Amino acid sequence: MEVVIAPAAELARLAADAVEGLLRSNPETVLGLATGSSPLAVYDELATRHKEGLSFARSRAFMLDEYVGLPADHPERYRNVIEKEFASRVDLPAGAVQGPDGLADDLPAACAAYEASIQDAGGVDLQILGIGTDGHIAFNEPGSSLASRTRIKTLTRQTREDNARFFGGSVDDVPRHCLTQGLATIMSARHLVLLASGRAKAEAVHQLVEGPISAMWPATIMQLHPHATVLVDDAAASRLQLADYYRQTYADKPTWQGL
Ligand code: F6R
Repeated sequence: MEVVIAPAAELARLAADAVEGLLRSNPETVLGLATGSSPLAVYDELATRHKEGLSFARSRAFMLDEYVGLPADHPERYRNVIEKEFASRVDLPAGAVQGPDGLADDLPAACAAYEASIQDAGGVDLQILGIGTDGHIAFNEPGSSLASRTRIKTLTRQTREDNARFFGGSVDDVPRHCLTQGLATIMSARHLVLLASGRAKAEAVHQLVEGPISAMWPATIMQLHPHATVLVDDAAASRLQLADYYRQTYADKPTWQGL
């Protein structure tokens, strides 16, 4: 696992560099998209690079998760968030972004179909991730099976409180259920790039990088991934025991070597 501690703008550039490098070597790259605040600067950076000529026209993307039951036109429905924050700002073709269907009549069948779509696409090349204050990735809350696949989950009170800011501050308006890629689904992606900023994420980041692998901190499963990158600002890195070592390692990294 590579840990990079840097200002947020640099982290966004690094993540965008990794996406751009993949697209330039393989225009049919399959991206994995997260919602929430953490990836927004990366999407801004990619939108800028698109204006400068970077094309997504032959790529496709899979979302991590979706709320159950939000109306199709609800602005916080993750499909709509991704459309607004990313897809509409680049040249991804219509239908190139897929997500779990939180409005399906048969939710377990929708989850199975989603898993099959990811496999049919050949898997995700680069998965962008955020992390919850409780250590979730996607919506794999504490206690999630480390071998889980896309399924229905119940959001913790903590996550609903954290996300109330997107619902006018009202925790009661945050859905209680979601569909989420499982931890094993996420682990199948070929490169995981997680972004975290702010002191509220410091304990989760410490557990992710340095804690024992445990369903209590679901992100710790990333320690088993052969190509995982953790991009954190100073505040999110403030509880890392080996922060000096990660800083030194990154400072000594050959300039030609990407993430
Ligand atoms: C969203 C997702 C979540 C968020 C996490 C952090 O698709 O999968 O795991 O990444 O809740 O959210 P932010 O970035 O808003 O702090």
